[in-house]
Amino acid sequence: MATVEMKVRPEDLTHVPQANERIPDPGIMVIFGASGDLTKRKLLPALFHLEQAGLLPKEFAIVGVARRPLGGEFAADMRQGIVESGVAQDDAKLEEFAKKISYYALSFDDASHYAGLKAELDRIAAERGIGPDRLFYLATAPEYFAPIVDNLGAQGMAQPQHGRAGVVIEKPFGHDLDSAKELNRNVNAVFHEYQVFRIDHYLGKETVQNILVFRFANGIFEPIWNRNYIDHVQITAAETLGVEGRGPFYEKAGALRDVIQNHVMELLSFVAMEPPSSFDAEAVRREKVKAWRAIPSIPILNAVRGQYGPGVIDGKKVVGYRDEDRVNPESGTETFAAVRLEIENWRWAGVPIYLRAGKRLKRRATEISIQFKQPPLLIFNRMQSSGPCNEIQPNLLTIRIQPDEGIALRFGAKVPNTPNMSVCPVNMDFNYAGAFGTSSANGYERLLLDAMLGDQTLFAHRDGVETTWALYTPILEAWAAKNPEVFPNYFAGSWGPDCAERLLERGGHSWRNNLGRG
Ligand code: BG6
Repeated sequence: MATVEMKVRPEDLTHVPQANERIPDPGIMVIFGASGDLTKRKLLPALFHLEQAGLLPKEFAIVGVARRPLGGEFAADMRQGIVESGVAQDDAKLEEFAKKISYYALSFDDASHYAGLKAELDRIAAERGIGPDRLFYLATAPEYFAPIVDNLGAQGMAQPQHGRAGVVIEKPFGHDLDSAKELNRNVNAVFHEYQVFRIDHYLGKETVQNILVFRFANGIFEPIWNRNYIDHVQITAAETLGVEGRGPFYEKAGALRDVIQNHVMELLSFVAMEPPSSFDAEAVRREKVKAWRAIPSIPILNAVRGQYGPGVIDGKKVVGYRDEDRVNPESGTETFAAVRLEIENWRWAGVPIYLRAGKRLKRRATEISIQFKQPPLLIFNRMQSSGPCNEIQPNLLTIRIQPDEGIALRFGAKVPNTPNMSVCPVNMDFNYAGAFGTSSANGYERLLLDAMLGDQTLFAHRDGVETTWALYTPILEAWAAKNPEVFPNYFAGSWGPDCAERLLERGGHSWRNNLGRG
């Protein structure tokens, strides 16, 4: 398809720090579960990058906390992670940054260890002239979230007399509605809701935030963003990766819990919500929850699941899910899930919304496609050819969240040099990297900075997580009660199981499998 590209001049993008640029107060970030992959691959590179951009306070320290006695090894390992992530060379700047990193060994559920942690944080603060602000980042296995929060509370670390404390909680936030409610109760017994940052890294992605800019900063889309013009919506989060050594975690999670209940639902909320009165936490989160609450319960027939068998990904043979490391050879865990839902409000009633997420699919692509209705009277001809022009297609707006971040709008154009009025679909294509000369940063940067500043706009609220769990818990329970008859039911490297195709066929639709390709 033909494409039209818009360009932004590099000089328009030079970052000039503003006098009012927000920089957090001096403080300590304490990362629980710091020996895990996330800290090394995402959190520390993000913090380093923030520091280089001048967005961290001068007096700042990072304390990694985990069970293993690591000592100085920890800072060296983090340093290596930062270099591997590509945000830094191993140079003087990194050396300076590494001085801010230290480590404290502790058993997360052993209350007697926390007085020592408090003393260590006070010592670091006194030594480096750091104030009383503390941000606790929980990147541990989920069963430790509640004990850690309790222990922080018991030592008075959640409500310091001076300064601010906050807690960032990684996903999964609960594994169903009851456990999410219980965790919310535990957390809110110690931290006020304004101190709680339930993280979903999708909200840190530029392309996800751009959905709101696209909808609400442009005059031409919002008037047609409704049931009068939109035929249906598809959201896909497709990965080529398998479970990557996380077998034991994934066995208990599955695709619905791991990606649909959180990441995909966040995408849906930005697509579906009403314009908030401002871009502040309360206004944005209220509109998101309103959209989710308008979704009636999903009939079990409108949810399908799959599990990958062996196959070929990018030319390489890969094993089936049941042969992955530490996975039950008869596992009933789904590595693919798809649902059809509706939003019963004035904007969306009657518009089918299809969501799917899966591992070991044909291509990595997270995309939202908004398919508009077919014009009522087709007075033009389709092109007599076997190429993409042989069909007159309705307008399609594709928001490419990743990779190849951008937005494309498909419309029909007259085929030149044909004797009759033949129409062929073409694309207007905005590509982030092409337009801005940069692709989107690691989403954690924005989220870490916001959490340090106490800005909750891009974090999940208590009501939000409970609402999405309420929607999916009945499906999870029905699936748990009945093992799937035929698993595996799709080949690694395909677009998922046949039942997902049939889910759409019932509504007269089909999945857009040309993902990432305009
Ligand atoms: C995580 C899931 O939350 O998101 C993973 O636990 C998944 O299973 C990952 O691979 C996807 O994130 P991204 O940013 O690579 O799309």
